[in-house]
Amino acid sequence: MSGESTYNPSNGFTKWMDSRLPILRLAHDSFVDYPTPKNLNYWWTFGGILTFCLVTQIITGIILAMHYTPHVDFAFNSVEHIMRNVNYGWLIRYIHANGASMFFLAVYIHIFRGLYYGSYKAPREVLWILGVIIYLLMMAAAFMGYVLPWGQMSLWGATVITNLFGAIPVVGESVAIWLWGGYSIDNPTLNRFFSLHYLIPFLILGVVILHIWALHVPGNNNPVGISVKSKQDTVPFHPYYTVKDGFALTVFLILFAYFIFFAPNVLGHADNYIQANPLVTPAHIVPEWYLLPFYAILRAVPDKLGGVALMFGAIFILFLLPWLDTSKVRSARYRPLFRQFYALLVLDCLLLGYLGAQPAEGIYIVLARIGTIYYFAHFLVVLPVLGIVEKPKAVPESISAPVLGAQPAE
Ligand code: HEM
Repeated sequence: MSGESTYNPSNGFTKWMDSRLPILRLAHDSFVDYPTPKNLNYWWTFGGILTFCLVTQIITGIILAMHYTPHVDFAFNSVEHIMRNVNYGWLIRYIHANGASMFFLAVYIHIFRGLYYGSYKAPREVLWILGVIIYLLMMAAAFMGYVLPWGQMSLWGATVITNLFGAIPVVGESVAIWLWGGYSIDNPTLNRFFSLHYLIPFLILGVVILHIWALHVPGNNNPVGISVKSKQDTVPFHPYYTVKDGFALTVFLILFAYFIFFAPNVLGHADNYIQANPLVTPAHIVPEWYLLPFYAILRAVPDKLGGVALMFGAIFILFLLPWLDTSKVRSARYRPLFRQFYALLVLDCLLLGYLGAQPAEGIYIVLARIGTIYYFAHFLVVLPVLGIVEKPKAVPESISAPVLGAQPAE
């Protein structure tokens, strides 16, 4: 996608094709001979793992849609029909449901890798912003997908989240009614959620293509955060990283298979095996684990509109990150102070995740407020201040130096 092409069409057909639609040249230059920094570690394998997750969700989703009925009277039973009667329906559904969790696990690792190695900094701001757009789309897709089985958590989770739009001043109520297609979550809501849940993954696919394009223009960042200077710093993507990514994917699949075959419901909520009932509210309404930190932020604020604003703000702040972190040094490897605060941010997000699953009362609320304050302070105060006061360690001249052992990195 960038640099000079090394593609040599080897037979009549590929020559013919190359002068008409050079798609094989594009594939070759992007995934075979693409010059990749030679020092990438295993945290760099998650982009490939995410691509696998997206394709898996789309394929299993299409098969599920063949047997699913998006109607309040039939949805719950159609899912049971998939589980009991459709050949391997249980497998397809468990892959899809647990696949969503694995997808988020991988995306969180991918995001925190970027945060650690400063992959959001120039010249990769657009790549990062496209990533945040993907993340938002993933959350929308997952939220709507969870409504489709029409269990108790489907209905009540959707009720809590869509009611948030009611907090918007003046137009809030009209917006909520418009979203529902009625005066509460009902059949029109289920129908449109199904339609959008089917659509969004294809939007994600489109943005992922832009994401990889925006990656291939400046090229990969790497653990030392220094730009590639010569051919000596890189190796061709194939076979070096196809093999490494393949190995990492295999390990990831073992964990994935564990959930599918040994604990397929451990990440879900038991109440979702009770059909949706608008007359019975569950004692605790909790979202899926990957949305819990945002749920904790939402509930930490005593004011509904304020909670909604902070919850969305927690994601939107990521768009500004490339400009909030003013340090000239990319990788945390040479930023000792940044590393401490980075660790604090990771713990903070885990704490918020835990608190999102607890009742919104007493000590849990107090801790959620502290966690929320640190989350925003990290981006709005810590990073800009560190950019000014931090004394980074000496950064090596080239990425080959620490790899070859000529100049130890630390
Ligand atoms: C469907 C979801 C996603 C897919 C399929 C995807 C795919 C990829 C791939 C294949 C790479 C190159 C390999 C690697 O660095 O791991 C990459 C790099 C990157 N991604 Fe993503 N990504 C996704 C989501 C995200 C999100 C949510 C963010 C951030 C909010 C993000 C930020 C980045 C950054 C900054 C890089 C450059 C890493 C570097 O070179 O240091 N990605 N992505």
